[in-house]
Amino acid sequence: MTEYDAIVLGAGAAGLMCAAIAGQRGRRVLVIDHAKKAGKKILISGGGRCNFTNIGTAPDRFLSANPHFARSALARYTPLDFLALVERYGIAWHEKTLGQLFCDGSARQIVAMLLDECDKGRVDIALGQAIGSVDHGDARYRVRYGSREASAPALVIATGGPSIPKMGATGLAYDLARQFGLKVVEPRPALVPLTLGGEDPFRALAGVATEVVARSGKAAFREAMLFTHRGLSGPAVLQVSSYWRHGAPITVDLLPGHDEGWLRAAKRETPRAGVAKLLAAAMPQRLADALAQQLGIAGELANLPDAKLAAAEQRLAAWQFDPNGSEGFAKAEVTVGGVSTADLSSQTMEARRVPGLHVIGEAVDVTGWLGGYNFQWAWASGWAAGQAV
Ligand code: FDA
Repeated sequence: MTEYDAIVLGAGAAGLMCAAIAGQRGRRVLVIDHAKKAGKKILISGGGRCNFTNIGTAPDRFLSANPHFARSALARYTPLDFLALVERYGIAWHEKTLGQLFCDGSARQIVAMLLDECDKGRVDIALGQAIGSVDHGDARYRVRYGSREASAPALVIATGGPSIPKMGATGLAYDLARQFGLKVVEPRPALVPLTLGGEDPFRALAGVATEVVARSGKAAFREAMLFTHRGLSGPAVLQVSSYWRHGAPITVDLLPGHDEGWLRAAKRETPRAGVAKLLAAAMPQRLADALAQQLGIAGELANLPDAKLAAAEQRLAAWQFDPNGSEGFAKAEVTVGGVSTADLSSQTMEARRVPGLHVIGEAVDVTGWLGGYNFQWAWASGWAAGQAV
């Protein structure tokens, strides 16, 4: 039995950050992961360039049963703090769009940086080790892993959510949370493509993308939407998928920035223009043709009654799609839901009624928008727990 001050389960974004901070505070820390490599999701993130934070980070860009929970950790460890770390390591970066910061080179640089920070804190990292059992008694947590056993007065659950199981994601965090009496808010796949069953009239458009405003309930995102063989994807749809519930529609403004009456005004100005050509000024021609057909307005504007054009304007501004599901955890970038924030301290991520037990990162019921927000939550919650254990 090896004794530590803290055992961190999961060598992902949150776990490595937490371990590095605690180690550098002089704590003896052990990190255990069943994967053979640390930070596997970091390595594939952002198309291999890791969208490591978002400079627009604010609590309202996160979903949680308690929207205030993330506030404290996000304020204490900010995107600029992480950026300062990135710059100390000389990692070149750029802002792509909407405050999203990416490595110029490779996501491998972020993992190497985190491992180096762990090294500075003399953190022990046990990779390729299945976690056998976790017990608590005499104010110590005992973890069996592989053929070994370790104990510590603090245990940090940083094993993430179940999205992308083929990369080693599991629901261990929820099992452990329940073992220690913490509630789990129902986990759902998020930042995930949505599927359109039945007669999807847009299936032939797979691969076509256009800028839209996609809405689910009150949430609205102006970004690209992509038609796929199974339904809809692209950043706008991934964003609304986190808010979407089975049975609800999503509405899509296919021509953002076009005021009501624009088609009728165009009819007066250019009566000989074809509708599909007009639409194609703002979207790919194949989509413009398909929409004009579906709306029954293919042809010259002059030949179309104003009432028909008004109806078309309305449908184009709020096209209703009725997803029959999503592509599920197999394709979801993150998980909405998780260990209930009601049972955790927002300062330290420690369970209120289980001293020494902390939960951080995606395992917690805090989920960010697409665009670097989820890593910022991993860093910030990892930092908060790393200061406390
Ligand atoms: P994370 O999943 O990183 O780590 C959990 C660790 O626990 C893993 O190492 C895993 O092996 C280990 N583990 C799990 N179960 C275990 C078990 N039973 N036993 C032992 N170990 C176990 N976010 C962002 O902000 N910007 C981006 O660019 C992207 N891009 C992106 C792309 C893709 C394809 C995906 C799937 C996700 C993203 N994300 C993202 C989301 C981001 O990857 C995610 O939010 C963080 O990795 C969460 O960090 P955690 O440390 O909480 O979990």
